[in-house]
Amino acid sequence: MKLQWTADLSVSNDRIDKEHQRWIELFNNFYNGIAEGRPKEKLEELILGMLDYTKYHFKSEEEYMRSVNYPGLAEHQESHNAFIKRVEEFHQKITSGKLILSLEVTNFLKIWLIDHIKGSDLQYARFAQNK
Ligand SMILES: [Fe+2]
Ligand SMILES: [Fe+2]
Repeated sequence: MKLQWTADLSVSNDRIDKEHQRWIELFNNFYNGIAEGRPKEKLEELILGMLDYTKYHFKSEEEYMRSVNYPGLAEHQESHNAFIKRVEEFHQKITSGKLILSLEVTNFLKIWLIDHIKGSDLQYARFAQNK
């Protein structure tokens, strides 16, 4: 199943909401690539694109959390780093042929994306709003 950005995912910051929308779009492209049986090289390209954008988004978000003096920054950053590590592992395993892209991989990404936005990102949003 593809993902959709909905208003309940809003962190009340335009820039970051747009980034989350783009992030979800990149995930959907990757998901479609698997569903359409695209060649391995294409899927590698898609996962790499998603990884690059994830890094960009995390940096941007961490900057925002810093700017509002969010006390949960360090913990949040750890969660970001763990995710990047995981996706880098996926990418390596795919490149070396040790992992076949499957719905299991996309399921992990999908659940993580949504859980992270709803669980962690909305926490700094609430904090920033109550300041
Ligand atoms: Fe985050
Ligand atoms: Fe985020």
